[in-house]
Amino acid sequence: MASTPLLLLLCLGVLGIQGCVFKEGVDATGKPWVCMSGTRQSPINVPWSGVLDHKGSHVQPQHQTHWHYSDLVSNGSNVEVINNGHTIQIEWLYAYDSNVQIAVPVNPNENTTSIPFWSCAPMTRPSKYYPLEMHIVHRVYDLPSCSAGCLTVTGILFNLVAGSDNPLLSAIWDNMPMREGQINYLPEGAAIRLEKFFPAPEDREYVAYSGSLTTPPCSEGLLWQVITKPQPISPKQWNQYRRAIGLKNCTDAAHETPASEEPHHDHHHRLHRHLLEETAPAEHHTDPNAYTCEVIAYGENYRNTQPTNRRKVKLALSKSYLDSRNKH
Ligand SMILES: *[C@@H]1O[C@H](CO)[C@@H](O)[C@H](O)[C@H]1NC(C)=O
Ligand SMILES: *[C@@H]1O[C@H](CO)[C@@H](O)[C@H](O)[C@H]1NC(C)=O
Ligand SMILES: *[C@@H]1O[C@H](CO)[C@@H](O)[C@H](O)[C@H]1NC(C)=O
Repeated sequence: MASTPLLLLLCLGVLGIQGCVFKEGVDATGKPWVCMSGTRQSPINVPWSGVLDHKGSHVQPQHQTHWHYSDLVSNGSNVEVINNGHTIQIEWLYAYDSNVQIAVPVNPNENTTSIPFWSCAPMTRPSKYYPLEMHIVHRVYDLPSCSAGCLTVTGILFNLVAGSDNPLLSAIWDNMPMREGQINYLPEGAAIRLEKFFPAPEDREYVAYSGSLTTPPCSEGLLWQVITKPQPISPKQWNQYRRAIGLKNCTDAAHETPASEEPHHDHHHRLHRHLLEETAPAEHHTDPNAYTCEVIAYGENYRNTQPTNRRKVKLALSKSYLDSRNKH
């Protein structure tokens, strides 16, 4: 039941000037996008744990997911930090060893391939909004219906907290490309300590629901598992992220032509390279440094919360909470 993650994405939530509207298009297999027609889309509003605990359904302890990630350590050329214009995405080019036992609905083996940070799939709760979410995307193979690979996403929420920077983010933030289309390598020895983003194993509480990709083709059937305890992010870190993925007005210094459209398009494909196995060639190889850019809007990639349509959101209570409850 061991598995490996695929990628990391960082997703920003607030200040969507022009929330994404994904109307038409087809996925890599020719199926139409389900962004507008789907009934199990992400993100959704998630009720507070207290509400779920009293009224909702639970993931029983024996069926809970266990996350064990080793550190992602770069050798200087095998961990990429990508600015695809929508998110900051981390990909690794080596066989990364981790052991994640995804336990819903059965116990699939899973292989993660990358991690994006988005500005587009925030999790909101009544009266609480988290501005950034990290998605650890995993691929599952060992279910009968998933021989070609099914995706599951583990979400880590970020809470804006005045004060010092979150050191867990420094490796990524220090190397974050500020221009769309740029890829930086983490320097040799730099590490992303993935498991440190999670509470201690006995304190892990999460919610699980059936959702979708948050960008086209918005394919459904993804298991979402979101850790309820947020990580802090400082205003400085948050602003850097927003500048990096903000909508920019770019001018080709040499030709004075507005240039935001083309690179934008390319890297959308790049974003979904692993997820959708798209092979769309990047038609416009553009040197991002050839442009002068000005941020004109933040949070271009924001996606509104989607109707729940009576989906069940299940709560997985932590071991320490269950133990303390059993004592009383
Ligand atoms: C870094 O890792 C990549 C992928 O495993 C490998 O191809 C490359 O040769 C390594 N570079 C160094 C300097 O070790
Ligand atoms: C998951 O990754 C490991 C190590 O990279 C590999 O050996 C294994 O075959 C992969 N599992 C599946 C189901 O692809
Ligand atoms: C983009 O920049 C150009 C050149 O500076 C300017 O003429 C244009 O009005 C700007 N567009 C927007 C939407 O800000």
